[in-house]
Amino acid sequence: MNTSYRQPSTAALLAFLFCVMAAYSARSAAQSLDDITLNVYKEETCGCCVGWIAHADDHGFESTIFHPKDLYAVKEELGILPKWQSCHTAVTKEGYLFEGHIPAKYISQFLAAPPQGALGLAVPGMPMGSPGMEIGDRFNAYDVILMKKGGSSEVYASIKSKADQ
Ligand code: CU
Ligand code: CU
Repeated sequence: MNTSYRQPSTAALLAFLFCVMAAYSARSAAQSLDDITLNVYKEETCGCCVGWIAHADDHGFESTIFHPKDLYAVKEELGILPKWQSCHTAVTKEGYLFEGHIPAKYISQFLAAPPQGALGLAVPGMPMGSPGMEIGDRFNAYDVILMKKGGSSEVYASIKSKADQ
């Protein structure tokens, strides 16, 4: 599976529809003084992105949202390869990248000890049941990927159930 996100499959389109539906369950966020700010780049109309931002904010992050004219040009410039791409891209002030529906606890774990040569983390595509992609009890197992400078990657965490999130 190495298809670019620019040419979504039927499954990806379905996932996007679910993604939009998930937006309606998004809650407003609680924030604290030691929030880590994420600059989040997304499409203006993407609802699942809003669901993920609410999840991140609930876990102590603070988000500044941007709607660039060409989201995929932003991803390309940041070095997020098509195989890693999802709907939204979050960037810390240090320049670490968090692509897609990553559970917040893995972002905290990453930022506490960033691995050498790491660009950041990614959850490619939009797995059903990941944060912001909740559809009832539905859940598909997925991996959180460690993106590395130079284009290689490895599995950072395997999410086998909702309890792993
Ligand atoms: Cu999404
Ligand atoms: Cu998104």
